[in-house]
This record gives sequence, C-alpha cells and structure tokens, in this order.
Amino acid sequence: MSKVAANDLSVFRPGLLNGQVALITGGGTGIGLGISELLAELGAHVVIASRRPANHEAAVEAIRARGHAASSVALDVRDQAAVQSVVQNVATTHGRIDLLVNNAAGNFYAPSATLSPNAWKAVVEIDLYGTFYCSQAVHSVMKAQGGGRIVSTSMTLHYRGWPLMAHATAAKAGVDALTRTLAVEWAPDRIRVNAIAPGPIPTEGVRKAFAPPADSGAPDLFAAAEEKMAEYARTGIPLGRWGTPRDIANMVAFLASPAGDWITGAIFVVDGGEWLAKAPS
Ligand code: COA
Repeated sequence: MSKVAANDLSVFRPGLLNGQVALITGGGTGIGLGISELLAELGAHVVIASRRPANHEAAVEAIRARGHAASSVALDVRDQAAVQSVVQNVATTHGRIDLLVNNAAGNFYAPSATLSPNAWKAVVEIDLYGTFYCSQAVHSVMKAQGGGRIVSTSMTLHYRGWPLMAHATAAKAGVDALTRTLAVEWAPDRIRVNAIAPGPIPTEGVRKAFAPPADSGAPDLFAAAEEKMAEYARTGIPLGRWGTPRDIANMVAFLASPAGDWITGAIFVVDGGEWLAKAPS
C-alpha cells in the first residue's frame, strides 16, 4: 500500500478551474472550508457566503495568504431576498457564477416527540429551503451565461430510519429530490445539478450538533464518545478511517471540472462505505 495518504495528493492539474467563479455557502468552516480551499487552489475565485463574518473572514484571509483568490459575504440562506441580492452582486462583480456549492447546513440530535416547531423549522429552512433559494437564484445567471453547475450537500442518514434526526433527514431527502428534479428541468439550460452525501467527518460543526443545549446539564455526547468513535472509525467504516473535508472537496472539484460535463442528477455517496455496512442505530 502507498505510504502517502490519499489526501496529500492532488489528482487535479494546477489551474484546472482558472477563470471560474464559485459561490460556496457555509464555505468558511468544516467541509465547506475544505471545498473553498481546494477550488481556490485549482484557480477558481471562491466567494464564501456564511452567516458569521468571523468564520468567513478568517477563511478568506488564509486562502489569500496562500496566493489564491477569495472573497466573502454575510448570508443567511434562509433569507430568500438576501440570497437573491448576494447572487446578483456576485454576478455583477465577477461577471459570472460557474459553480454553486450548497454546503450550508444545520442539525442537531433531538427527540422528535418533543422537537419544537422552531427547532424543526431552523434545520429544514437551512438545509432544504436554503438549497432551493440559492439554486433558484443562480439559475438565471447560469442560464444567461450558457450553463453552470450546482453541487448540494446531502447525507446518508435518511436511507434508513435515523432516530433523533427527523428534521435533518427529512430536509436532506428533500435535497435529493430537488437535485434530481432540477437536473432534468434545467438540463436544457446546461446547468448540471448534483449532490454529495458525505459520511462521518468529525468537524467542529458535527461536534456542535452532538452538544446538548447550553443550559441543559446533559452530557456532551461527542466528547463522551470520542474514544469509542475512534474505535468505530477503525472497525465500523469499511475503509477504516473518518472522512476529511478534502475527501468531499475532491468530488466537488471533479464535478466542477470538464470531467463532470455529462453528469447531472447524481447523488454521490462519499463515506468510506459506511452506510452500507452500518448496523441500525
Ligand atoms: N436540541 C434541541 N433543540 C435545539 C438544539 C438541540 N441540540 N439546538 C437548537 N435547538 C432549537 C432551539 O432551542 C430553537 O428552538 P426554540 O426556539 O423552540 O427553543 C431552534 O432549535 C433554533 O435554535 P437556534 O440556535 O436559535 O437557531 P439558529 O437559527 O441560530 O441555528 C442551527 C440553527 C441548527 C445552525 C444551530 O442549532 C446549530 O448551531 N446547530 C449545531 C451546529 C450545526 O448544525 N452544524 C452543522 C453540522 S452538519
């Protein structure tokens, strides 16, 4: 076996995405940051749109410090008017939007029987409504320029029942449906619409999703389970390790490249084989 980890190698040629403009929601942290970094490394100008300026400003600074092109804008993808305005501004500033990555997502483990309407709404609005609002907003820009690509983030938990995740699994099932429908509807406009379903990637966001509400006094499931989770990665994931943001970013870069030209309506599971092998929770 190679001594070099797959994540240390790039199969993409330098400058592959030169001249492209990529809009990445939630692109300042976690998986989104990994996507922003790789697309910028490959020559795209990345525009990171996320709620918290502290997150996206630091990301832009780091990407620029490595000599790549990036900018950012504050955006809550639940706000349809704000989404429209951001997309129009990006299109006006850069003249085009080649790629939209619907990466912004929110979730937390919570029992369905007592989930508040607001908790349900928060997750469904970020994951599903946000994906639709952003996709719809880039449609006219991409159509006018002769095409474009949309890649949304899905998950695998809704392939089976997944307790404590009713809100997120329902939303991501919707993202899958949206991906297939928009792919067919917008193919005449040469807009390719695909999704990626990542397996477990222990980013800070996932840690927060496991954390109990601040004043609940309940144990932090992620911290408590960290040791068991390391063991799980070795034995429960067929390919024997956690995923990394770069694993997902590689698939996004592939779809953004000419190699993705004839791919639309596909949902790519990138999870080390986890969901197929996983015992029901
Ligand atoms: N368990 C139960 N309910 C929860 C919860 C939890 N762990 N976390 C949030 N909620 C509820 C809140 O209580 C609130 O409902 P209420 O008004 O009835 O009390 C509702 O969800 C909205 O929460 P709030 O934090 O105000 O929403 P927000 O819009 O600022 O943020 C999230 C929503 C999902 C982004 C936020 O809860 C969060 O940061 N989640 C963890 C991090 C994350 O999602 N990472 C992405 C991993 S893919």
